[in-house]
Amino acid sequence: MASYHGQVNRLGYTNTAKCFDCHTGHSVKKANDPTSSVHPDNRLKNCKNCHKQATDSFLAFQPHGDPDNRDKYPWLYWAKQFMQALILGVMIFFWVHVLLWLYRELMDRIRNKGFEENLDQPDIVYFRRFTPVWRWIHALFAIATMVLVLTGTSLLFPHTAWAKAVIDALGGPKMEGIIHRTAAVTWLSIFVFHIVVVAVNVWRQRKTFNWFGGTSMVPSWNDLRDLRKMFLWFFGRAERPDFCHWTYWQKFDYWAPFWGATIIGTSA
Ligand code: HEC
Ligand code: HEC
Repeated sequence: MASYHGQVNRLGYTNTAKCFDCHTGHSVKKANDPTSSVHPDNRLKNCKNCHKQATDSFLAFQPHGDPDNRDKYPWLYWAKQFMQALILGVMIFFWVHVLLWLYRELMDRIRNKGFEENLDQPDIVYFRRFTPVWRWIHALFAIATMVLVLTGTSLLFPHTAWAKAVIDALGGPKMEGIIHRTAAVTWLSIFVFHIVVVAVNVWRQRKTFNWFGGTSMVPSWNDLRDLRKMFLWFFGRAERPDFCHWTYWQKFDYWAPFWGATIIGTSA
């Protein structure tokens, strides 16, 4: 039930493999029995009943992989522990960050130290960070990400009522698969296109580009110093800090998809 086959099946797509598809109906044998349908020598033939183009890599798929079983699936177990710790850590950090920021912003406003006062200063220069094309691409990227999260989590929690409601609203599990993959292709196309544009831009400026400068997305020690200044400001121990072109939280957001694409891409 927790495998991909079972999850999709639970959502109503009953063409996926069930126990008897892999283990047969009446000659269920131990996996280490050479005549068993799930013995490594016969397994691929079994998968090919449905996956006509199955390659040897299908043997690496663990139909019963259980990330809570440390003895049998140590890799899955530690991957899950690591991902959970990572997600929890990021959530806690940014929630604290957001709440402290909100607190400081309110305090500053109450004491009339907010932005409004600064607006009167004639020497403030505003500039447009992105051209319209890139703003549209950002919007599309954000929508694709949210569609992926919605369709992906409903697959991850197929036993819940909300997941079934989402799948129904989207037009069933087959349609969900099409929507998910369309969003994935859109997402990856923007991602790769962006990397190409960055590579071309950096190449063009290769003589002058400062990898750790203000306009670079590469994290630097300065980000740590900015982080410290920001927390000092949160606690009212310093003035609101000024930042260069990119702030540390923007850099964090920027690198997150690289990490996410690698993890999801290599574990799929
Ligand atoms: C996609 C094919 C597939 C499906 C569907 C499937 N299994 Fe399996 N099963 C396997 C394979 C391959 C193995 C051997 C490798 C392993 O243990 O993961 C196995 C191993 C097992 C074992 C351990 C057998 C042994 O000798 O170690 C049991 C028990 C089992 N499956 C029960 C089930 C039950 C119950 C279901 C339905 C809820 C089910 N399986 C669905 C492919 C499948
Ligand atoms: C009864 C038919 C059937 C059998 C047998 C079967 N599968 Fe599947 N499998 C499906 C269907 C249907 C899907 C869902 C395809 C989709 O997402 O559109 C699927 C999906 C998958 C996926 C996810 C593919 C993706 O696009 O992400 C994997 C991996 C997979 N199967 C592995 C296996 C392996 C390994 C075996 C043999 C041990 C096996 N399957 C046996 C029907 C089967």
